[in-house]
Amino acid sequence: PLVTTGELVTRAAATHSAVAAFNIITLEHVEAVLAGAESVGAPVVLQVSENAVKFRYGRLLPLARAAVAAAERAAVPVGLHLDHVQSDDLLRQAPDAGFSSVMYDAARLPYDENLAATRAAADWAHAQGLWVEAELGRIGGKNGESPLDAHAPGARTDPGEARAFVAESGVDALAVAIGSSHAMTTRTAALDHTLLKHLADTLDVPLVLHGSSGVPDGELAKAVAGGITKINVGTALNIAMTDAIREFLAAHPEAVDSRTYLSVGREAMVRAVAGIIRGLTGPTAT
Ligand code: G3H
Ligand code: ZN
Repeated sequence: PLVTTGELVTRAAATHSAVAAFNIITLEHVEAVLAGAESVGAPVVLQVSENAVKFRYGRLLPLARAAVAAAERAAVPVGLHLDHVQSDDLLRQAPDAGFSSVMYDAARLPYDENLAATRAAADWAHAQGLWVEAELGRIGGKNGESPLDAHAPGARTDPGEARAFVAESGVDALAVAIGSSHAMTTRTAALDHTLLKHLADTLDVPLVLHGSSGVPDGELAKAVAGGITKINVGTALNIAMTDAIREFLAAHPEAVDSRTYLSVGREAMVRAVAGIIRGLTGPTAT
């Protein structure tokens, strides 16, 4: 069934676990995420990024409607989240499109501007009943930029600054920069667990890990144990889907029916989703 992201994250926080949130681009992503979550009996979040909306010719509703319809029929609780929103126009479409939560992303701005923009977005979103996530510190690799150097200014979230940011913006959850980076195609990110502990001790809102595709399994489980409550995964599904389709088409150069390769790609994503969710609770994923 469709539930709110807020209740999934609150429940995860209460049990010191995390809910996995997967970026969806196509209907196959939607189906694969739900099937993968159902196969391990775990709640899950379907998230649509602003970039995915751009890919869908700028239209949010077609994919959102499909996600809502699929979530309503799922055997596990499913939240629907609008991810990395920079556009106020897109933000304002969230409630009617069925989203219970948004990640408002002004992390590219200097601190004061990030705070002002995030507070305004959170005020509006809360009035609509939405749960709001924001980002402080810069998680690199967005929109094709290269991963930030660990020592680059702003590449890590400062605990004291984060405490003030959360209090003044009123957000419900915070995406923290602790060493992960977006769009990594190898699972080689090194997380700063000392900083994570400091952040978890300092902040009283759930913490979100972005760029989780690049984080090794054992490290993800350790981050969850250390206070991460929402795990955002995108690239790992694209890798699974694209690798499977590439292999299928190489072996079947005569194939023309899109269902033949899309089903192979979808099944690869189902396995990836199940493996990642299992990996959140322990070092071994299958
Ligand atoms: O918000 C989405 C996530 O941060 C996805 O990052 O594509 O590197 O897994 P990823
Ligand atoms: Zn992200």
